[in-house]
Amino acid sequence: MTARIFIKLILAVTGVLAVALTSVNIIATPRVRASFLNSLHGELQEKAQALELLLPRDAAEFPHIAQLAGGRLTWIAPDGKVLADSEADAARMDNHANRPEVAQALAGKTGSSLRMSPTVGIDFFYVAIPVKVPAPGSVLRLAVSAAEVDERVRELRNAVLLATTLAFIPAVLLAGWFARRASGRLGRIIDFTRGLTLGNFTSRLDGSSRGELGLLAANLNETSEKLQFMLQRIESEHAELEKVERIRKDFVINVSHELRTPLASIQGYTETLLDGAVEQPELAKKFLNIIRQNAERLTRLTADLLVLSRVELGQQTFKFASYAVNRLLDDNADSMLPLAQRKGIGVHVDRVADSVEVFCDAEAVHQILTNLMENAIKYTPEGGSVTLGARPAGTDKVEFFVQDSGTGIPAEDLSRLFERFYRVDKARSKALGGTGLGLAIVKHLTLAQGGDVRVESRVNQGSTFYFTLPTQDLGISESGAIQQEFTAS
Ligand SMILES: Nc1ncnc2c1ncn2[C@@H]1O[C@H](COP(=O)(O)OP(=O)(O)OP(=O)(O)O)[C@@H](O)[C@H]1O
Ligand SMILES: [Mg+2]
Repeated sequence: MTARIFIKLILAVTGVLAVALTSVNIIATPRVRASFLNSLHGELQEKAQALELLLPRDAAEFPHIAQLAGGRLTWIAPDGKVLADSEADAARMDNHANRPEVAQALAGKTGSSLRMSPTVGIDFFYVAIPVKVPAPGSVLRLAVSAAEVDERVRELRNAVLLATTLAFIPAVLLAGWFARRASGRLGRIIDFTRGLTLGNFTSRLDGSSRGELGLLAANLNETSEKLQFMLQRIESEHAELEKVERIRKDFVINVSHELRTPLASIQGYTETLLDGAVEQPELAKKFLNIIRQNAERLTRLTADLLVLSRVELGQQTFKFASYAVNRLLDDNADSMLPLAQRKGIGVHVDRVADSVEVFCDAEAVHQILTNLMENAIKYTPEGGSVTLGARPAGTDKVEFFVQDSGTGIPAEDLSRLFERFYRVDKARSKALGGTGLGLAIVKHLTLAQGGDVRVESRVNQGSTFYFTLPTQDLGISESGAIQQEFTAS
């Protein structure tokens, strides 16, 4: 492809050279000829004038001076009769009075003409001058064969053409160099565009050079960059959609699974009761208790799911205001105290300065702290301790924490801890009545208020859960910081 371009460019340059040579030939040749004849005219005239001085009185001595002429020399009498001629017999020659150059000389001027000689039968260029001495009124004529003139003209024309061709050589070389360079660049552009059609958007052309090709390269680079960007975006959106779809499916499976266990239990014990167990009061009471526990579990599960979906869909309405951090901590510690005491767990409150406030929804913060405290108490053995506290984090945030001296969480589980239904020890969590939604709710409620969550934990040493809240109004809408996506956690 690029070789073809190269050949075309070279052919074009060669064509231009051919046209130039033809024009030079057409224009220069007649001029060279005219100019040559002009100077030949002068030359022959001077020679004839020099020879005039040597003219003999007697025609018999004419051949001596004719030798000096270097051309055909003719001597004509005033009446037109040829007295002598260096190449023909004068006696046999016609009267020359009517020959154009002779007629002009007889009229007293230097005459010239380019024509065929009737005597010799070939073309001549004649120059005739009127003779003053020694035979006044006669005419001396000097002639050069036209073939000689043509030969001289051809030589001169060839010299001009050679000079023109030589002058063109650098131009041809330069054009060839440009053609090769341009075709090389075009070749790279063609390869590049072929790559684009095959979906390769990562390579780039050298766009630093100027001119049309440089501009084209820069534009193609820009196009490729945009395509690459768009492709990446589509790919990441696609991956995101796939992820969301996977999560949605997992969620549906999880929810059905979580619902099925208590429902199956309720159904089983109800049937057992109906089948006769109801007649035995002790057994009936035990079964009814189990039925109640499962019903409570279902209620908790649906309530938690409802909270989660409301927050995620931005349907939860928050009542944002400034609240004293110590007040939030104390209220929660008070409400959790009975639960902790039942397990013999000490609750400590790590307060901040009384002036420290956070901008939040107090109900939501209470829910967050309750979930964290419940976990801390639930996963801490009897006699352990739980600390609920806060500390300023920078100028615009307060970090709350709930620390326990409990079982701790293995490192590999930490990253998934805030996902819905994720439990470290499934059986144990279920036995303790957990739905696996508590931390997911914590995360979403925190995000909705412009904060963030994290956890630190070591097995057998205890865990600390942290969440931040802004101290100022961040301009968060009442339905939460972000329309939270339907995400994993
Ligand atoms: N303080 C903690 N110490 C040890 N493990 C914890 C702690 N808090 C949470 N976990 C682990 O994280 C899992 C998820 O906690 P999450 O609160 O979401 O669910 P849950 O407590 O099992 O159920 P619920 O929805 O009733 O809170 C728990 O099952 C537990 O394995
Ligand atoms: Mg929990």
